[in-house]
Amino acid sequence: MVSTGAKHSIANVFMCMLNVGDEVVIFSPYWVSYAEIIKLAGGVPVLIEGTLENNFKATAEQLEEAMTDRTKAVIYSSPCNPTGSVFSAEELQAIADVVLKREDVFVIADEIYELINFTGAHASIGAFPGMFERTITVNGFSKGYAMTGWRVGYICAPLTIAKACEKMQGQFTSGGTGIAQRAALAAIAGDQGPSQEMEAAYLKRRDLVLGLLRDIPGIKTHVPEGAFYFFPDVSAFFGKQVEGRVIADADALCLYILEEANVSLVTGAAFGAPNCVRLSYAASEEELIEALKRMKAVLAKLA
Ligand SMILES: Cc1ncc(COP(=O)(O)O)c(C=O)c1O
Repeated sequence: MVSTGAKHSIANVFMCMLNVGDEVVIFSPYWVSYAEIIKLAGGVPVLIEGTLENNFKATAEQLEEAMTDRTKAVIYSSPCNPTGSVFSAEELQAIADVVLKREDVFVIADEIYELINFTGAHASIGAFPGMFERTITVNGFSKGYAMTGWRVGYICAPLTIAKACEKMQGQFTSGGTGIAQRAALAAIAGDQGPSQEMEAAYLKRRDLVLGLLRDIPGIKTHVPEGAFYFFPDVSAFFGKQVEGRVIADADALCLYILEEANVSLVTGAAFGAPNCVRLSYAASEEELIEALKRMKAVLAKLA
């Protein structure tokens, strides 16, 4: 079912699926909108946390511990916004095994970064035995085809859920924009070369930024395997100061870097990880080199 962007697809799903008080387990760090949409739909977000040490990937064991009688669904993105981490087929199988112990729990697999995956092996949990009927796969054109403004996203879901979403969407927007869907069709049915070139360009930038970040004392990062983000731990700077300005947390650090270096980052607090910041490398190599140079200079002033 096609909607006005993947964000709209996810909103439709939670609006249709959740009753007040239903719980949704979110693999954290997570894309900001998940928790807000769940709350808008009357649900309760339950976070399970991945750490830098395990590439920000919460485990199937954590999922099992977090599930209760109220659990209705589980959601993750892979490749992940904000961490760039990718679940392997083995990791997804372990998640599927936990979900399949229950008869009434769905997985919402947000695969919008599918085409920006440097591992060369994108795995979809909906393709695993027993999971097709349990999975709502989310995808869209904003990332892999750089068509963010066209607003086309979609789900592949069990028919009951797709039909409920269609009813819901029919009242809110009538449907996705026709001309945008035509453009999306041309993108997905046409030559995939441009998307592959884009993925290769992102990999080159990933390696460029990785080298530059590792050159900044105090920054700790893992190696993202997809999407176009770094999610470094910046807690080494907390409590430091310059000219009486104290960097209390990631919010304060982002504001400092914005004001002093004109470089915009997003605080990890927004994604459930307050020791981190998110850096997007969807920018030119020249801009990235300049941005990292400025960041390094202003961070060096903190003592
Ligand atoms: C993980 C994830 N899911 C969904 C979306 C929404 O994409 P769309 O532009 O299709 O609404 C984004 C956009 O940032 C995202 O990062």
